[in-house]
Amino acid sequence: MGYTLRKATVNDVPQMQKLVNAWAKQGVMLPRSLHSLYEHLRDYLVAIDQERIIGCVSLHITWEDLAEIRTLAVAPEAHGRGVGRRLVEQALEDARDLGLTHIFVLTYVPDFFARMGFLPASKADLPQKIWQECVHCPRFPDCDETAMTLDL
Ligand SMILES: CC(C)(COP(=O)(O)OP(=O)(O)OC[C@H]1O[C@@H](n2cnc3c(N)ncnc32)[C@H](O)[C@@H]1OP(=O)(O)O)[C@@H](O)C(=O)NCCC(=O)NCCS
Repeated sequence: MGYTLRKATVNDVPQMQKLVNAWAKQGVMLPRSLHSLYEHLRDYLVAIDQERIIGCVSLHITWEDLAEIRTLAVAPEAHGRGVGRRLVEQALEDARDLGLTHIFVLTYVPDFFARMGFLPASKADLPQKIWQECVHCPRFPDCDETAMTLDL
């Protein structure tokens, strides 16, 4: 395996932003500001290989029983090593420990999340509260991401 997962720290943020925003430039995920990463840092897990961040994910609690998997990114040179899967599985484990029962994701890679057991869902079925963040998205209101959910 050769890499480890741990909670993110403030020192990780510059590398996390580089990783996420490189993908964002390709239009496959939303960019994150330094402010947003610091503000939500306790949501994040990172994958580390030889002191380098090769992946990150965040688990953002949105309601009493509901959380969103956000900002999943794996460095291109680390693809296919199970990093994405392990990050999602650890985030789901953390969600269980927190007492959450429903997880959702808005994604351009539904087939990846289907492998983790997520099922396609209607965006209309997600609570209105989750759209708070969406108004800041450059694509709002024409969201073309696929909504998927997983019951823990
Ligand atoms: C999608 C992404 C996170 C996958 O990371 P990864 O570490 O390469 O994936 P893994 O090695 O853990 O793959 C786990 C499984 O998913 C499959 N998979 C990987 N990428 C996939 C994709 N883009 N589409 C469908 N399946 C995919 C793998 O084949 C593997 O399947 P298996 O378990 O049946 O062998 C990574 O490609 C990435 O960072 N993409 C750009 C950012 C992005 O789209 N993030 C998602 C935002 S919601």
